[in-house]
Amino acid sequence: MPESDVIERTKEPITKVRLVRDLRTLGVSPGDVLLTHSSLSAVGWVVGGARAVIDALVEAIGEHGTLVMPAFSGDLSDPAEWRNPPVPAHWVQPIREAMPAFDPGRTPTRDMGQIAETFRKWPGVRRSTHPMSSMAALGPRAATITARHDIAYSLGDGSPMGWIYELDGRVLLIGVGHDRNSSLHLAETRCPHRREITRRMPIEQEGKVVWQSHPDVDDDEGHLFPQIGEAFENSGGVTFGKIGHAEGRLMRQRSLVDFAADWFESALGDHA
Ligand SMILES: CC(C)(COP(=O)(O)OP(=O)(O)OC[C@H]1O[C@@H](n2cnc3c(N)ncnc32)[C@H](O)[C@@H]1OP(=O)(O)O)[C@@H](O)C(=O)NCCC(=O)NCCS
Repeated sequence: MPESDVIERTKEPITKVRLVRDLRTLGVSPGDVLLTHSSLSAVGWVVGGARAVIDALVEAIGEHGTLVMPAFSGDLSDPAEWRNPPVPAHWVQPIREAMPAFDPGRTPTRDMGQIAETFRKWPGVRRSTHPMSSMAALGPRAATITARHDIAYSLGDGSPMGWIYELDGRVLLIGVGHDRNSSLHLAETRCPHRREITRRMPIEQEGKVVWQSHPDVDDDEGHLFPQIGEAFENSGGVTFGKIGHAEGRLMRQRSLVDFAADWFESALGDHA
């Protein structure tokens, strides 16, 4: 959405002070480990844009809190599989040969939004090292959360998602739906009947980029995640409130993942 449309839909400029108040009213608390998925335009026009939203999140969780965001770089994947947009077939090999390997300092996020992209460059932020599914974290638990990131099952227990679960972290959706709620991949990874795929990605080995294949759960593409999210909301697991103009949804990741693991197993197990 163009910025002019965001301005038109916003009654008055949204400040960091207002966002901190909204976050606290929703239930974000000092000391939280908080995994955030966000849309900046959904918040309304913010004075200071993405930077001010991050400032507000950091203030709301305080010095003992840890803020986490996805820093996924889905373009570090096999170009033969690209759909959004696809590339001509005769480009596939040249792209594979020239693709730079993941670099935590320089690889940009893709489709994560301005808030997540600004955050991964934020002073003091640590980023895990998965080529496609890295996560960024800031705060006392950041080093622990980002230290290990297995290449296979990229959002499973051997990833930052597993640590957020261990630390009883919370998930905050700002203006986005459960189709963006990546913790559901952790739930699916734990299920015997998970939807499996093989992902190919470029990995740097001894100064050369090599393409490796690893098992993972498939992308959901909005098939099951919204249904699970709705069922979890109906179970009372989510607190709702406004963050600026955006719908804010706050939940314990552990409750969500446990609920979703059961849901997946009965839904996917039935079709096995
Ligand atoms: C895809 C997605 C990021 C799109 O959201 P978005 O609000 O359109 O995009 P961004 O968050 O990058 O914000 C940029 C927009 O903010 C708006 N903007 C610019 N300045 C602004 C300001 N000061 N205040 C508020 N909005 C502003 C502009 O409209 C801009 O759009 P443009 O880049 O087209 O000009 C969002 O829908 C989403 O999915 N977020 C979650 C991603 C995620 O966590 N995924 C993980 C699992 S899939």
